[in-house]
Amino acid sequence: MRIFWAVIVSFFSVTSAFANVSITLPEESAQYRKGTGVDLANSYCMGCHSADYVLTQPPAMSRAFWAAEVKKMKEVFGAPVPDDQVNGIVEYLVNTYGDPRKK
Ligand code: HEC
Repeated sequence: MRIFWAVIVSFFSVTSAFANVSITLPEESAQYRKGTGVDLANSYCMGCHSADYVLTQPPAMSRAFWAAEVKKMKEVFGAPVPDDQVNGIVEYLVNTYGDPRKK
């Protein structure tokens, strides 16, 4: 019987410890870095998610990587990027977050 109460008591102390935990999510405050074409990114790449998605990509990625990323946003997820703005965005991304020397 003593074991039974010990189990009950420890059960309640565990649950009340959890009940006091609260989490605060970080604010979505990430912004696109200044640079030629940043206005394009702000116009076309903020509609569905914050700039965090771009900022958390691996560094020094190639132009092909960023071109594929923009293409995917447009064709798979339906980002409303006009065809004649795609290159400007890709150039902005590779110059700002990637390595423009890589093809
Ligand atoms: C129509 C909505 C929409 C728009 C507009 C949009 N995205 Fe996305 N993006 C998504 C979705 C959906 C994901 C995938 C989220 C996930 O996997 O959890 C994503 C993910 C990403 C990622 C993470 C890597 C990956 O491939 O999943 C990057 C980088 C990214 N987007 C860049 C961009 C850029 C650059 C633009 C502007 C050209 C853009 N997004 C515009 C919907 C959008």
